[in-house]
Amino acid sequence: MIRHWLVHNWFHHILVTVGILAVFGAYKVTLQRMGSQAGEVLKLLVVMSTTREGRMGSRVVKFIQNELGAKYDITILDPKELDLPLVRMPIHHYDDRTQAPQVLLDIEAKLKAAEAFLFVTAEYNGSVPPALSSLLDHFPPGHTLFGYKPSGIVSYSMGSFGGMMGTVPLRQLLNAMGTVAVPESVHVPQVHSSLDEDGKVQGNDHLKSGLESLDTQLGWYAHSMKEYRKIHGVPKL
Ligand SMILES: Cc1cc2nc3c(=O)[nH]c(=O)nc-3n(C[C@H](O)[C@H](O)[C@H](O)COP(=O)(O)O)c2cc1C
Repeated sequence: MIRHWLVHNWFHHILVTVGILAVFGAYKVTLQRMGSQAGEVLKLLVVMSTTREGRMGSRVVKFIQNELGAKYDITILDPKELDLPLVRMPIHHYDDRTQAPQVLLDIEAKLKAAEAFLFVTAEYNGSVPPALSSLLDHFPPGHTLFGYKPSGIVSYSMGSFGGMMGTVPLRQLLNAMGTVAVPESVHVPQVHSSLDEDGKVQGNDHLKSGLESLDTQLGWYAHSMKEYRKIHGVPKL
C-alpha cells in the first residue's frame, strides 16, 4: 500500500523535496548575509579633546585601542597633532572649497568616512575642552558629516567623577552637530592611576565592562544606521 502510494506520487515527492531545499537554501543565504553585515568592520573615528603637554588623554586612547582595536578600523583625530587655530573660517564658509586649508580638507574626509564616532573627552572647568569644541566648530552640522551616525563618549579626569560633568554639555554639542550620542558612556576617574602610560587598566574592572557596554550599543546603532543609509540614503537635514 505504502509502496503503491510512493510510486504513484513520485512527481509530488520531487516537488516537495525541491521546495524544502529551496527554502533551506534561501534561509542559509539570508543568515550568511546577516552574519557578514554584523561582522563587517566599522570605521570608528576616535576624537581627542586636549592638547596639553603631558596630557592624560593619550592613556585613554591607548586603552580604547587595546580593547577595541581588533574590532573596529580605528582612526584617531587628535587636535594636538592638527595644531588648529581657533576658528577663523569654517570649511563650509569657503565658496570655493579648493581654497580651504588642506588640514581642514583632510579632517573633513575623515569625518565623512567615519561610520561611528568615539569622543574621548577631559572635563575642563566643568565643560567641554575648547580644543574639542573649536575642532568641531570648523565643520558643518547636519547630514553631510555627522548626521545619521552614532557617537559614544568616554570621559576622564584626575578627580573622582571621571569628567562626568563635561559630558552633559558635550551631549548637547554632539546633538547640535547631528550625531546621535548613545545612552551608555564611560567615565574614567583618577585617570593618572586608573590607566598606565600604555593604557593598561590598573585594578578598576569597571572600565573594561563599561567600555564593553558602550561598544555593544555603539556597534548596534552603527550597523543599523549603516544598513539603513545604504538602502535609503539620508534626508538633507
Ligand atoms: C584647564 C583645566 C581645567 C580642568 N577642570 C577640571 C574640572 O572641571 N573637573 C575635573 O574633574 N578636573 C579638571 N581638570 C583636571 C583634569 O581632570 C586633568 O588635568 C586631566 O588630566 C585633563 O585632561 P588632559 O590630561 O588630557 O589635559 C582640569 C584641568 C585643566 C588643565
